[in-house]
Amino acid sequence: MTLPANQRPVPGPRGRPILGMMPEMVSDMLGLFSRTAREYGGIAQFKLLNKSYLLVTNPDYVKYILQDNYKNYIRGRSVETGRVLLGNGLPLIDGDFWLRERRMLQPAFHRERLGKLVNTVTAVIDTFMQDWAERARQNQTLDLDNEMMRLTLTVIIKSMFSSPIDDKIPALSHAFNVASKFMLWRSQQMVQLPLSLPLPRHIEYNRALHVLNDTIYPLIAEARKHPKDDLLGMMLDMRDADTGEGLSDKQARDEVVTIFFAGHETTAATMAWAFYLLSQHPEVEERLRMELKSVLERRAPTFADLPRLVYMQQVLNEVLRLYPAAYLFAREAIVDDVLDGYHIPANTLIFISPYVGHRDPKFWPDPERFDPERFTPEQAASRPRHVYYPFGEGPHVCIGNNFAGMEMQLILAMALQRFHLRLVPNHPIALKPEATLRPKHGMKMTVEAL
Ligand code: HEM
Repeated sequence: MTLPANQRPVPGPRGRPILGMMPEMVSDMLGLFSRTAREYGGIAQFKLLNKSYLLVTNPDYVKYILQDNYKNYIRGRSVETGRVLLGNGLPLIDGDFWLRERRMLQPAFHRERLGKLVNTVTAVIDTFMQDWAERARQNQTLDLDNEMMRLTLTVIIKSMFSSPIDDKIPALSHAFNVASKFMLWRSQQMVQLPLSLPLPRHIEYNRALHVLNDTIYPLIAEARKHPKDDLLGMMLDMRDADTGEGLSDKQARDEVVTIFFAGHETTAATMAWAFYLLSQHPEVEERLRMELKSVLERRAPTFADLPRLVYMQQVLNEVLRLYPAAYLFAREAIVDDVLDGYHIPANTLIFISPYVGHRDPKFWPDPERFDPERFTPEQAASRPRHVYYPFGEGPHVCIGNNFAGMEMQLILAMALQRFHLRLVPNHPIALKPEATLRPKHGMKMTVEAL
């Protein structure tokens, strides 16, 4: 294509005929993205099976796409495969539909509202800690990846529904896990067959979907009759400012499943990496324990304590810099655009990777080093604002970031008050970039009561 004189071509690797960079993408996606950004700069183009994609890592360009001109850069095709389970949940919609929904849901996630959920969250964490104490007595190891997945799923289910549902949690969690694994698997298939075809995977998925829906719809009906102060109650309470309408049952169901999905694996993965990094940096862990002692003096943390755990917040920020659970997300251009002289044709799919951006040596000296000091107010102020975006940025910024922050602080505080966790010697550490950035071999740790 010939570009107008004032436009420049986007650089990028040539790749192989037909396949483009597909082999590299399949064998080591994060390696491919990191190398591409390093070699070609903050905007690069590459081909996968003859289709062109962009990788954008320059923080100003990221801001332009996610914020300044976000209306032209929608989620579009990039999230289509999620629809099978999540329906029209917030991350899968765009335009006016998204705006109306976001405005309705936003207040349920405000910091002050979240204070009402703290007791629910701490009660779940406490149950897990009691189990860990028993495991410590028996010298058993824990897979922190698995533990955190179970913990955060229970937290989000119980925060959503405060009615007594303990007896339903195992079946609901199982159905949700089967359904979300299926969604991921399906998103990786070249051809997506109709779900009505009686293949074993489809049958298993359809069963799981029934369990999910048969559990969630009655809980929504019950919550409409007897409103509660839980996440669902807050969501159902909201009204569209223009029409006065609230969420329909179907929309409420989609948002419940979406929040289970968006709000548990991300937090779980971050916590698994946090425990790993602390086990490798005893001096950081020691300082965290000192902060906990001075702020909490051995009692359980409350909502009011959380802003005072300043060093803990720095540690979590640094964990999310090195291992941003949402390591990659995408946008699709609606119409042709020009970004700093680069032509972006309509329909282009654009990858944005906090994992790559957060390791850019221009903004993060010695980027592989774990150093919570990067997030002291002074150091944070010395960096451009848009180089750190573990929760995204612009209007689609994570709606659950305060919830995640609260939950992660509570888990860390309650675990460190009671246990020493150490990585099992020689346990292999590698990245598994799938729906979120998780440890490929789990995170086997020994647990010792203090
Ligand atoms: C450490 C934990 C988390 C991380 C790293 C994370 C990351 C992100 C990111 C990067 C986005 C923006 C994606 C985009 O722009 O396409 C996002 C959106 C979203 N997140 Fe989170 N998230 C976390 C926890 C949560 C929790 C706890 C919830 C719910 C309780 C949640 C619900 C959502 C929803 C509904 C959206 C879509 C927002 C919209 O499109 O308006 N997330 N998250």
